[in-house]
Amino acid sequence: MTNNSGKVLILNEKQVKDELTPQLVLDLVEKSFAEYANGNAVNPVKLHLPLYPHHEGYINSMPSYLTKMEIAGAKVVSVFKHNMKEHCLPSTIGTIILHNTETGAPYAIMDGTYITAARTGAVIGVMAKYLAKQNSKVFTVVGAGATGLSAFIMINAALNESITEVRLVDISPDAQARFSSSAKEIFPAIRYVNYDSIQEACTGADIIVAAATASTPLYDDITFDKGSTLLMIEGDMDDKFANRFDSFIVDFKECFVERVNVTNTYHAEETGEPIQLLSEESVTAEIGDVITGKATGRKSDEDIIVVGSIGMGIQDIIVADYACKKAREKNKGTLVDFFNLP
Ligand SMILES: NC(=O)c1ccc[n+]([C@@H]2O[C@H](COP(=O)([O-])OP(=O)(O)OC[C@H]3O[C@@H](n4cnc5c(N)ncnc54)[C@H](O)[C@@H]3O)[C@@H](O)[C@H]2O)c1
Repeated sequence: MTNNSGKVLILNEKQVKDELTPQLVLDLVEKSFAEYANGNAVNPVKLHLPLYPHHEGYINSMPSYLTKMEIAGAKVVSVFKHNMKEHCLPSTIGTIILHNTETGAPYAIMDGTYITAARTGAVIGVMAKYLAKQNSKVFTVVGAGATGLSAFIMINAALNESITEVRLVDISPDAQARFSSSAKEIFPAIRYVNYDSIQEACTGADIIVAAATASTPLYDDITFDKGSTLLMIEGDMDDKFANRFDSFIVDFKECFVERVNVTNTYHAEETGEPIQLLSEESVTAEIGDVITGKATGRKSDEDIIVVGSIGMGIQDIIVADYACKKAREKNKGTLVDFFNLP
């Protein structure tokens, strides 16, 4: 979008949300993965700013560029895991800026909180579409928060609503109740069951989404059924864990491995335990290569697959650009005279 006027469009969470549906976000995210796998994207490893030990949170900066689609911009996103309990705020809060690719001039500043939850869910949905075994019916979520809910909605949309049972594990009964009540509004025929034990919730599950903001590893001692797919939105991972599975697929290998090792190093320093690292050799393939047919994902219905998503800026900007164009067509949002050009 050109911007010679010096004006910038501001879009809030509702205005962004109004332009998006689960299917739209799934399609956009799948396209961004294909563009990346085909060499049409610049997506640097995200810049990670930990505020530990002063504050229990971090802020990431994620610039990216889809070269053929001519979309460029950056998301700044924070994750403060005690936000909901202590401040009634989401744990994950984002802002997205879109820039014109010829001049660099920004043309939109948008809410990135809804887009982060929606696109993260859609990433998991696209991964489930390509990697879960046929006819998956039982879904478990560990961490029934904003991202877990979005992941479930997107997975069920991506799998043509094949899920019949949802199992919820969370240390917060309020989170389980909020999840069930929101999900029931969209999928009322599904059975929603609360579980205390991660192992019990995983036994008999086809798809498991790991989306808890836990500070300790939750899955080291868990046994997964043959044919199941474990989709990890948080990076609770090392070589020993990854090598328990038939395949280990990620969204962005370099970034996933770097970020997991930063977290593992921090954890080791805090606990005094030896550092458990993850190496790139443990990764079987990136999902973009599976989507474009350059790599194989699931080889049989017996495979147990683990999937890791660290998130990529291209997923944010492709969704943001779509919402921005639609909002402009409808004259939604607030145009601000940002540069005060003469
Ligand atoms: N990969 C990505 O692109 C991406 C994007 C956004 C968020 N995330 C990650 O997703 C995770 C969830 O973020 P969110 O915004 O949904 O947070 P949220 O606070 O909305 O939800 C997290 C839930 O986990 C629960 N929980 C905490 N410890 C637990 C435990 N030991 N067992 C079971 N449940 C537990 C909490 O009670 C809460 O309900 C975070 O770790 C965040 O870093 C990843």
